[in-house]
Amino acid sequence: MQTVANTLAGHRSIRQFKPDEVPQTTIDEVLQEAIAGTSSSGNLNSYSLIVTRDPARKQRLYELHGEQEFVLQAPLVITFCADWYRTRQWLKLRGARDNFNNFLGYQVAANEAMLISQSVTLGFEARGYGICYMGTTLQAMGQIADYLGLPETCLPITTIAVGVPDEQPERRERLPMRAYVHDEVYQKPSAAELDDLYRAREESGWQRYMSMPRLKAMCEEGGITSLAQMYTSPYKYDPEAYAATSQQVLETLRGRGFLPNRLAPEQTQE
Ligand SMILES: Cc1cc2nc3c(=O)[nH]c(=O)nc-3n(C[C@H](O)[C@H](O)[C@H](O)COP(=O)(O)O)c2cc1C
Repeated sequence: MQTVANTLAGHRSIRQFKPDEVPQTTIDEVLQEAIAGTSSSGNLNSYSLIVTRDPARKQRLYELHGEQEFVLQAPLVITFCADWYRTRQWLKLRGARDNFNNFLGYQVAANEAMLISQSVTLGFEARGYGICYMGTTLQAMGQIADYLGLPETCLPITTIAVGVPDEQPERRERLPMRAYVHDEVYQKPSAAELDDLYRAREESGWQRYMSMPRLKAMCEEGGITSLAQMYTSPYKYDPEAYAATSQQVLETLRGRGFLPNRLAPEQTQE
């Protein structure tokens, strides 16, 4: 078994998988270890995991996840949900007061879903499997919730595809540690410090994008000349699309009982 340090050092997001199945015993072992070994707010464990292996169901998830090819290739897809439904049903059954159907509840449960997802990731990676997270979970939050049959106050937060790697990607660089770590209080970086912090990342990131002929042509056409410009261009995190998705997420939270309804009760009667 790998150490945590070795497992982290070996991490790469994997987007090409061999067809080999992940044995059920391995899935059970990894999930059980992660559940038992991950901290949980109030030990209320406000998350659920949906395990998808059925190819037809993976096909639909592939569509909902913006047709990312590796969803079809990976033998296993796990959707991590912020889930207060189970706990709230239990509270009700025991005659306790209802709670957690508000934004703070959402935030706490979303944190739990992310924590458990990373423990599960480490468990698979330590055994030589590869994973890729899917941020598209938030873009299609409501539709994925419907497709997976999620009840009220239960929403998908993130998803991983899991399988035997069929590629060996380069390790993706991070900023130097001093970019993230502040001594006692936050130290705002100056322009010169930002230049220094981002120099290597800008160079390697831009080179990587420019090595992709389609992306290179799109950048030339759109007048995009740097990594920073790329990140908020129409091809990556387009600000308008991002704001629209943000609004959509808010509406989904409202529809699923995590936010008060937009209209006050007296207004709804009009
Ligand atoms: C929350 C989250 C969402 C992500 N969503 C996607 C995704 O939708 N598609 C994808 O190909 N990679 C996705 N990734 C993977 C990142 O692109 C990847 O972690 C990053 O580029 C760093 O590369 P590395 O994981 O190989 O170190 C996601 C990662 C995280 C943490």
